[in-house]
Amino acid sequence: MKTGILETGGLAGSEVRICRLAAPLDAKTAWKVESLLVRIFERGDYSFRSALSGKYSGTLNCTVFLAELRGRVVGAAICLYANRNPAIGLVGPVGVAHERRGRGIGKRLMTSLIDYAAAKGCAALYLGISGNGAAQRLYRSLGFQQYKGIVMRRLMRPEQQFDAQYFAKNPDVRVRKAVWGDFAPVQALLSCPCDMYTFDGRRGVFSSKYVEPTRFLSVFPEMMSKSAEYGGLINVLAAGAGENVVGYAAVCVSLTSAARHVAELDFFVHDNFVEQAERLVRTTLADGVAPNVEIVNCRCLGCDSLKQNVIEALGGRQVAALPRNVKLGDTYEDLLVYQLEGSK
Ligand SMILES: CC(C)(COP(=O)(O)OP(=O)(O)OC[C@H]1O[C@@H](n2cnc3c(N)ncnc32)[C@H](O)[C@@H]1OP(=O)(O)O)[C@@H](O)C(=O)NCCC(=O)NCCS
Repeated sequence: MKTGILETGGLAGSEVRICRLAAPLDAKTAWKVESLLVRIFERGDYSFRSALSGKYSGTLNCTVFLAELRGRVVGAAICLYANRNPAIGLVGPVGVAHERRGRGIGKRLMTSLIDYAAAKGCAALYLGISGNGAAQRLYRSLGFQQYKGIVMRRLMRPEQQFDAQYFAKNPDVRVRKAVWGDFAPVQALLSCPCDMYTFDGRRGVFSSKYVEPTRFLSVFPEMMSKSAEYGGLINVLAAGAGENVVGYAAVCVSLTSAARHVAELDFFVHDNFVEQAERLVRTTLADGVAPNVEIVNCRCLGCDSLKQNVIEALGGRQVAALPRNVKLGDTYEDLLVYQLEGSK
């Protein structure tokens, strides 16, 4: 379903036209977009097919900007944001067919995307740089700035102090199950420099306060797919009427068949909502631990007293310490393993 041809031309004699489409795309167009993107990226950070076919459309808006030349898709840029709160948008992927690069198509796609996101009320657009210097130059020229590691973002109204507003302390917080619409706000939270150390300790992914992020768009989709595949629950801490995502907790059954009686817990909460972390984790354990799970493991760094306090308050006890197990810059940190009781 094409929702509009936004413009045509650009270069003298160019017949490239830019269109905007909203998921679900018809199967043929989705296939064309996916074929182009897979040719450029080999494999995606998340399932383009599912997003384009509308699988997540109940909660996640997926809008695609297409560059078409005589019926052929020669460029695409995707914008994702939550239906219920478009404050944070994600950009990605963005790709232009190799033989058509350097002619302004990328810029036209991105300009359309930015204008659209602004009109929808998006206050910040985030993206992860996975390409070459050309991509970075393009994004810079369009007002994106280096944020943390590979993450760039564009604040639509910089004067409005986005972070201070979005993560402002708020007594109105609730715990609810994560949905695909949380893709953009969870990614924004995970790139925010928070005091808590890890947000996925098992894979060694850290708060950007301590380690510059080298992964971006893949993090939330991986959590969601792992949870769906192995069994588990991801909850978010949602603040205010807009349900700004200010924390998350995930419990997932162990990936190895010999340890299906074991679940792994992780969580990450913004500094302004640390006092809500215990409630978030308690609810997640109560609702997410399957009857066959006897033990819940949670790993945290020896220096992460915030996390230790939460686990200990919930009755977790330290069962192991792996000295100097994690290198953070020039320092080594111990990895502590805590255990909580499962269902039995
Ligand atoms: C990044 C990417 C999308 C840019 O698309 P593009 O269509 O080549 O981008 P543009 O043509 O708008 O801009 C690229 C360059 O062409 C130049 N250009 C734009 N219009 C031009 C014109 N009419 N004539 C000559 N040069 C032009 C731009 O100034 C820019 O130059 P610069 O890199 O020196 O600043 C494309 O290179 C790509 O698909 N790369 C691989 C995937 C990737 O890295 N994606 C981003 C992942 S985060």
